[in-house]
Amino acid sequence: VSTQLLYTVEEVRSAVAKARSAGRTIGCVPTMGALHAGHGALIDWSVEAGEFTVVTVFVNPIQFDRKEDYDAYAISLPADVDLCAARGAAVVFAPSVEGMYPEGFATAVEVPALAQNLCGAFRPGHFRGVATVVAKLLNIVQPQAAYFGEKDAQQLAIIRQMAADLNLPVRIVSVPTGREFDGLALSSRNRRLSEAERRIAPLLYQALDAGRRKIGNGSRDPAEVQRVVLTILEAEPAFRVEYLEVVDARRMQAVESIHEDVRIAAAAWLGSTRLIDNVLCRV
Ligand code: PAF
Repeated sequence: VSTQLLYTVEEVRSAVAKARSAGRTIGCVPTMGALHAGHGALIDWSVEAGEFTVVTVFVNPIQFDRKEDYDAYAISLPADVDLCAARGAAVVFAPSVEGMYPEGFATAVEVPALAQNLCGAFRPGHFRGVATVVAKLLNIVQPQAAYFGEKDAQQLAIIRQMAADLNLPVRIVSVPTGREFDGLALSSRNRRLSEAERRIAPLLYQALDAGRRKIGNGSRDPAEVQRVVLTILEAEPAFRVEYLEVVDARRMQAVESIHEDVRIAAAAWLGSTRLIDNVLCRV
């Protein structure tokens, strides 16, 4: 099967309708392009479930809080299509900005209760932009399942809440974070790291993992866990920690004591690159 590259809502709707009438279930993998093995895993999950898999590639301008970040987010559509084809995706949907936000576009989707802390506290409007575009993409593709990475765990919590609150008939599937050999979470932003920064970057995961071990060894105090992680990160002067929190794994809200599954979630800057990561800690 060859992968179709489609640019308009009408084209993708008609391809999906055809697949559906042939009895296929539809899976959707929303992305912003610059695809890597982490996205590859999301596509694999959908393809292996036997779905007609639609990968959306759209650098969504309304979710960027900094223009430099948007401008640096160069997509490489031909390489992205190759990766999708190699993984067996049926369609790559790459709409234009005008196609998604025609003149007069006036709606926003927001989940304020889950967007105040962590990344939401540092990236004003980011999650409104994410929820809005994901609601649109899910309405365009109308998949039975949509796949998101656990690396963006707050995004995932917000999308789950939105899908439940708006009765979207879609199963939101979360896929564990893909990692490099040294633990660094796969991210399109890793490409921006200098060689020296790339060597330091895995420390973020190593520090979070030390926090997880602390919980595994019985600590139930978020402040104590935070101290363990911060001590490791602060020993590396190149890192500037933006936030580090112990949050409940479902809603990603701070906890006062650790009595349910939590995630330790962090954002840190290395030079001009912002990295995020989190680890799940089961109790
Ligand atoms: O995680 C991403 O790549 C984006 O935030 C998403 C979900 C595709 C929305 O633009």
